Formats: sequence, C-alpha cells, structure tokens
Amino acid sequence: AYTYLRLVKGKNMTSINDVTTIEKDGNISIITLNSPPVNALSAPVREGLHKGISEARNDKETEAIVIICEGRTFIAGADISEFGKEPKGPSLFEVQEFIEDSDKPVIAAIHGTALGGGLEVALTCHYRIAVPSAKCGLPEVNLGLLPGAGGTQRLPRVVGVEKALQMVTSGQHVPAKQCLEMGLVDEISNEDNLRQDSISFAKKIVSENRPLVKISEMNDKVEAARGNENIFKDFRASIARKARGFLAPEYNIQCIEAAVNKSFTEGIKVERKLFMELVTGTQSAAQRYAFFAQRQVAKIPDIEPDTEIKPFTSIGVIGAGTMGGGISMNFANVGIPVTIIEQSQERLDKGLGIIRKNYENTANKGRITFEDVEKRTKLINGSTDINDLSNCDLIIEAVFENMDLKKDIFKTLDGIAKKGTILATNTSALDVNEIAAVTSRPEDVIGLHFFSPANVMRLLEIVRGEKTSKSVVATSMKMAKNIGKVAAVVGVCPGFVGNRILAQRQREANKLILEGAMPWEVDDALFNFGFPMGPFAMSDLAGLDIGWDEDLSTGDTLRDKLCEAGRLGQKTGKGFYIYDENRNKSPDEEVEKLIIEFSEKHQIKRREISKEEILERCLYPMINEGFKILEEGMAIRASDIDIVWINGYGWPIYEGGPMFYGQLIGYDKILKWHKEMEEKFGPDFTPSPYLEKVVNEKINLFG
Ligand code: 3HC
Ligand code: NAI
Repeated sequence: AYTYLRLVKGKNMTSINDVTTIEKDGNISIITLNSPPVNALSAPVREGLHKGISEARNDKETEAIVIICEGRTFIAGADISEFGKEPKGPSLFEVQEFIEDSDKPVIAAIHGTALGGGLEVALTCHYRIAVPSAKCGLPEVNLGLLPGAGGTQRLPRVVGVEKALQMVTSGQHVPAKQCLEMGLVDEISNEDNLRQDSISFAKKIVSENRPLVKISEMNDKVEAARGNENIFKDFRASIARKARGFLAPEYNIQCIEAAVNKSFTEGIKVERKLFMELVTGTQSAAQRYAFFAQRQVAKIPDIEPDTEIKPFTSIGVIGAGTMGGGISMNFANVGIPVTIIEQSQERLDKGLGIIRKNYENTANKGRITFEDVEKRTKLINGSTDINDLSNCDLIIEAVFENMDLKKDIFKTLDGIAKKGTILATNTSALDVNEIAAVTSRPEDVIGLHFFSPANVMRLLEIVRGEKTSKSVVATSMKMAKNIGKVAAVVGVCPGFVGNRILAQRQREANKLILEGAMPWEVDDALFNFGFPMGPFAMSDLAGLDIGWDEDLSTGDTLRDKLCEAGRLGQKTGKGFYIYDENRNKSPDEEVEKLIIEFSEKHQIKRREISKEEILERCLYPMINEGFKILEEGMAIRASDIDIVWINGYGWPIYEGGPMFYGQLIGYDKILKWHKEMEEKFGPDFTPSPYLEKVVNEKINLFG
C-alpha cells in the first residue's frame, strides 16, 4: 500500500508561502507542507513551518495544530543539497523549539517516510499519528552523518537505548506498526484517511485534555541505562565488522552515550559538536555525493521518459552455472518465472540443486521463510531444450566465456525467440556488437553484466551496443530497478567499466610483488584503505586456476608457478596465502620464497615499498583509466564510474569511488605522478589526454 496525499482546497485555506498552507477545521489548525519531491526541510519549508505554527499559536480559536504533508511523503529529512551552503531562513532548531514550546498540542500526521530531520521534527511534536504504510527512521548514518536536530537525544528517550542504537547506526526505516509498539507513534490512522483521522485525533487530545508531551523531558529510559557500560561495549562489538572504516556509526553511538550520561541540554551540545565534525568532513561529503550519484546513474540523457518499456514477465536464462543460477534467483525473488536451459540433464539438476541450497541457507539464517524457498524454486524451471524459450520476453545467456559458443547461441535464439524479445549476454569481456551482429535483430541485443554472486551483488552493468535500441536500454534499466539492482549504462570496450579499471589495479599489484612488496602487504594497504579484501586474497577466493590451463602452462608467470604447485587458492587450502580449516588466511614462507626467486630470475631488484606507494601504484592508474573511459564515452559521467566501483567492487563509499577520490587527492597531482612514472617506467603510466585537459582547463567533472 502506498499513500499519495492530495490537498483538497478548503474554503478556509490560506497560503503561508509557496510551500505551506494553513487551514482551520473547528478548533484545529492544519499546516500543510507541499515541497516536492520529498518535502525536504529546505529554507522555505522551515520558514513555512515556523510561520504556520506561529499563526496557529496566536490564533484564539485554535486549540491544537496538525502538521501534514502533501504528495508522496512526510518530511524525508534535511535538504541534503543545502549542506555546506550558507544557511538561510530560520534554523531547524528554532522551528523545533517553537513546536515543542507550543502551549497547544502539535500533532505530526505521517505518511510515506518520516526520515532524519523529518522524524526529528515529528519528535518535537507532542503526538504522532501515521498511516499503516508509513515508515520512520534516522538514516543520517548512511550519509556519513548523525541526526543533528535532537534525534540522538530524543529517540532513546522514546524507544530506549538499545533500539535507538540499532536505529541510528543502521539507518533502518521502521514500519508504522513497529513504531506504534515502540511508542514512536501514538496512533495509526486509516490508510486513505490520514487528514481526517489526524484532525479527529487532535480533537480527541483537546477534549480529553491530554498533556503536552515533551520528549526532551522524558528521562526514564535513558536513566535506566545509566552506568551500564556493557550496553555500549557489546553494541560496538556487534557492529564492528560492518562499521569498519566509517566514522559516523561511532559518532552516533557517542551521542546516544551522551543522552544516557548527560542532561538533555548537554546531550544536544555533544550532538551538535559531533554533527558539525561529520558534516564538514570528507567521509560525509563522499557519502552525500554517492547518494546523488546513485540517483543520477539511472538517468540516460538521450532516453526520453516516454520511451517504450517492453514487458519482462517471463525470463529465459541459458547456462545454470555460477552466473546463470544467481541471475535466475534475482527474478524468482520478485515473483517473475524463469526457464533455465542447460546442455545436459545432469548439469541442469546440479544447477537447480545449487539454487535450492542457496535459498535453504538463506532460510536457515532466518532471512526468508521455508515457504519462500518453495515459492521461489517453483518459479525456476529447467529444460535442456532451448526451444522452450520461444515465448520469453527477455533471454539472458550465461554460458562459458567463448565467442564461438555465444555466437552459436545467439544465432539459435534469433531463430526461435518471438519478435521483440530482448536478447542479453552476461559476457564479462567479449564484444557485444560482434555477438549482436550474428542476429537479424541487433537492436534487441544488449549486455547485462551481472556480478558474482549475481543474487547478492547490487551492481549491473548494462552494456549498450552500437545498435541497441533505446527501448531495450530503458527496459533493461526498469528491469534492473525491479530486481533491486543499481544499474549503470556502459559502452562496449574490453572489460567495460568495472573490470577495465580493475585490470589496472591488478597489473600494478602483480608488479609490486615482484619489485619488493609481499601479497599480504599489498592486500593490507588496500584493506586498510577500506576495500573488503585486497587483490591477492580476492584471487585466492575466486581460484587462481580460472582461465589457467595446466597443459598450456609455461611456468613464466607467478600464477603458473602457484597453480603448478597445486596452490589454486582457498579451495585447495593454499594460494597466495595458506588457509586453516576455518578459511583464516596467513602469509606463507613458501610463497615468499617463490616470489623472491621469481624476482631474481627476472632480474628485478627488490626494494622496500611503503604503504603509501602501494596505494598510489594501485589506485592512481585506476583513476587515469577512468579518464580514458570518459574520453571514449564508455561511461556517461564520472559519477557513474564511482557507482560501479562502490557497488560492484567494494570501493569504500566514504572515499566516494575512484573519480571522487581522485578529485580529493587533486587531479593535478595524479597527472604529475603519471608523467613522472611514464618517464621512468613507460606506457603503463601514460596519462589520459582527457585528464590533462581537465587539469589544464580546470573542468569540473561533477558540476
Ligand atoms: N534532500 C534533498 N533531496 C532529496 C532528499 C533530501 N533529503 N531526499 C530525496 N531527495 C531527492 C532525490 O535526490 C531525488 O531527486 P531526483 O528526482 O532529482 O533524482 C528525489 O528526491 C526522489 O528521491 P528518490 O529517487 O530517492 O525517491 P524514492 O521514492 O525512491 O525514495 C526516500 C524516497 C526514501 C525519501 C529517499 O529519497 C531517501 O532515502 N532520501 C534521503 C533521506 C535521508 O537520508 N534523510 C536524512 C537527511 S540528513 C538530515 O536529515 C540531517 C538532520 O539530522 C539535521
Ligand atoms: P560456469 O562455467 O559456472 O557456467 C556456465 C554454464 O553454461 C555451464 O553450466 C555449462 O554447462 C553451461 N553451458 C555451456 N554451453 C551451453 C549451451 N550450449 N547450452 C546451455 N548451457 C550451456 O560459468 P559462469 O562463471 O557462470 O560464467 C558464465 C558467463 O558469465 C561467462 O560469459 C562469464 O564470463 C560471465 N561472467 C562470469 C562471472 C563470474 O564471476 N563467474 C562474472 C560476470 C560474468
């Protein structure tokens, strides 16, 4: 259920400013905010609220005040685009004080989402009523912030310390029913009647002479936790893994600690101070940037909003291997039936078995029910006859990475798929145009590059071929959204955007270990930067033998040596690292010896390599490659590249992605570094001409 409130103009309604109206219903004044898209607390909204409350407070007949919003949602927070700019109009604090100090009860009427500053405004109201589909939350942590308008001090006073800790560090949106149980809202209205129900609720408060509840004065719950250090110790431990590298979760916890140990007024001071530190820091700047980048990536400049969206209600997947299985699960998860084709019954059974096992594991962890397992597996049907795909709306090929095989399959699909079917390939490196060219309908062919594990990873690269139609691109974007992916449109080039940039890091990492660093030193530097793991740990996880052939191995590369020694990675208990039975890795002397011998054999003089150099060598060439990608038009905008790396490769969001990070370092510095490195070590470091142009002409990539 989703409520969209539309304002019915009453005869008593007057305008306060462009985004605010006030109206009377007997002894109740109703202030309505209407600032699309999400009623964020911009200067006019704050001003409208302030003036509206003032008018209602001064009005003799008014005995209670309702704050309600028009459109898709209650106030969804501070206006993020205002951060860092000169503040205008009344501050949020002034507005909140004015609400809380009102001698007439103020009631927040919530639909959609009351988030961040929006919930903080609602918490200064004396009562809250919400529609059943509404959600409340303090998601500031996801922007590298903390609730800076009293949220950290008021929330624990209502819901208790544990729940408050959980909410502010996860940013979770809590459904209305749960809010009612926690005391965060006082009343649930009818889904379609919030306006009328909130007025009735306000009248009831007046007639029953209910008290003016000021949350700032409710101390029972915070006092109950005073002196109990373990709450915080245990909580910190419970989120340590997820919060690694981020400042905001810890700052949020410190604010809740202040709520417990200090008075409301002193707690607010702590909140204010820590908020200011975060809002002026680079982590939050990066996370706010990523928030907008994630919305921007969905916008394709030459695709008009009215572009035809094709149906995608039946899906075909070819290949029930690692990718095909994961891809199919995405559709079954949202109730869309899938037919998977394999080359033999045996492989099909194996693939379907793995899918079932994956679902069962999720159910065992309590994330879905066993009923869901049955429902979803029933939606995935197998076949060994490709003709069974003839009626599908969308067919995704995920067979071995082999051009001839893929061409054969696309030729077959061209013959059997109904007119208008989208024909997609999940290739990670092959030329999508070449694949499209074997069909009579290249306009229907597209690359849908999922990432492994495909049912988990959020990124989808949508590879737009030379002839791919706009409708096929637009439909792919829509499909991606429906299955919960973050999709970026990229062009046809080796490795597309993500893997093309990854190749730069891999090349330098491989060189570094021959020049003097050990794999664990390279991995540590990148892990400490914020990546979930370094390149060598990642290779061990994936398996060093991917794409390696024992018969063709020449022993010329370190990988050949490792594989020849049976060190295939985690699956054989050793690769670049050695693993214990719990898959915990440790450095291994044997590898160290192998690497040193290898350096000697190739007459590379080993030397001490600092952490800083490792980071520069691994990260700067990635940024340079990003410029080449932009120059060739293979990504639409710099921020799309960042979205690819944040969602597909674990680039820490608080570092904003390679292009944002490059700007923080200074593109001029990156250019200079490349020029010096090019002179000493050659073309691996040749700077992109576009990087030079951006530096020389001071172009703003994010403007
Ligand atoms: N400020 C400015 N713009 C915002 C915004 C905000 N708080 N929230 C959303 N928008 C914009 C989006 O950028 C987008 O713009 P676009 O159409 O030009 O791309 C538009 O509103 C619609 O947003 P979505 O596409 O995200 O719409 P959805 O319906 O999918 O989601 C939402 C709606 C759940 C409200 C989601 O937008 C959201 O999570 N917003 C951010 C909420 C938030 O983080 N609030 C806390 C802000 S910080 C704060 O309040 C500090 C305070 O403690 C002092
Ligand atoms: P896989 O080897 O696990 O699975 C491929 C499956 O295709 C096998 O089960 C095989 O039996 C089946 N198959 C082969 N020929 C077939 C045919 N003619 N008809 C029906 N089924 C056939 O390979 P994986 O890893 O799933 O890769 C598939 C594709 O996805 C490749 O193009 C790969 O490059 C790409 N990819 C792989 C990623 C990964 O991390 N594994 C990530 C992104 C893309």
